[in-house]
Amino acid sequence: MKPELSVNIGGIKMKNPVTTASGTFGYGPEYAPYIDLNRLGAIVVKGTTLKSRQGNPTPRIVETPSGMLNAIGLQNPGVDYFIERALPFLSNFDLPVIVNISGDTVEDYGLLAGKLDSASGVAGLEVNISCPNVKKGGLQFGSDPESAAEVVRVIKSSTGLPVIVKLSPNVTSITDLAVSVAEAGADALSLINTILGMAIDIKARRPVLGNIMGGLSGPAVRPVAVRCVWQVYKAVKLPIIGMGGIVSAEDAIEFILAGASAVAVGTANFVNPRATVEILEGIEEYCRKYGCRDIQELVGAAHRQ
Ligand SMILES: Cc1cc2nc3c(=O)[nH]c(=O)nc-3n(C[C@H](O)[C@H](O)[C@H](O)COP(=O)(O)O)c2cc1C
Repeated sequence: MKPELSVNIGGIKMKNPVTTASGTFGYGPEYAPYIDLNRLGAIVVKGTTLKSRQGNPTPRIVETPSGMLNAIGLQNPGVDYFIERALPFLSNFDLPVIVNISGDTVEDYGLLAGKLDSASGVAGLEVNISCPNVKKGGLQFGSDPESAAEVVRVIKSSTGLPVIVKLSPNVTSITDLAVSVAEAGADALSLINTILGMAIDIKARRPVLGNIMGGLSGPAVRPVAVRCVWQVYKAVKLPIIGMGGIVSAEDAIEFILAGASAVAVGTANFVNPRATVEILEGIEEYCRKYGCRDIQELVGAAHRQ
């Protein structure tokens, strides 16, 4: 029997729990030659801002033993380009499109939410209040529970779309942030964003990244991400999209057992452009092997005796 894999993330109906992590899958066309996008539970597109952004100075990527550091700095062509040029391509596919948004100010978030609310083909918003490598906005909002709540309130008053808030691990208590944005009306949570890190070139005796610091992602961050999902699942009742170092179905199952209702695949896409579908097939196989008829049976199962 085919296991039931569909999930509902704060009002966004996904046919399976596998989606993409923002910034690692572009707007989709880059990966369409490798996988059938229709197989994904949803697509979360690259971070979008009100105006186009050049991003940070180069170098912007460093490989690390078990992942990478990036300081892209939200380079993107802006929300109008996204709506006019990228969204039409994505509407050819049968999958919810979730738009990841970032702002320098609270007003930016409201304006972005309003623009995307009136664009057809957007299923929901993922609110990045957790980017560690941009000067304004970003982590500034994501590390203070009251500022984070304010961003959510403004977005909720500008759109009827489901609002998923993406949290940072670069805080003392991720649960304080989760509780605060849940009270402000968030419909779901995404965690985690990257972990602040840096690398130094020992020959040049200088930081490698043009931005000096960047965000660490990939398998190195997975135990931190699983811990965050575990803690937040216990603290709030919202559905969670778990991410951080997922490269295999086993990794994805670990997040689901910790409390994630869906999972996002990020850095693994750069290594294997078919990672998302292979992870999906592996989740299905796990369900068959262990007699799980509905993926819901696994969500948070590690919390139960
Ligand atoms: C190159 C790169 C760009 C990213 N851009 C964004 C972004 O624009 N918005 C965002 O919320 N997260 C962004 N992220 C964070 C990822 O979506 C994800 O949260 C993080 O990489 C952890 O997952 P992973 O270890 O599977 O990559 C980016 C990550 C990478 C590696």
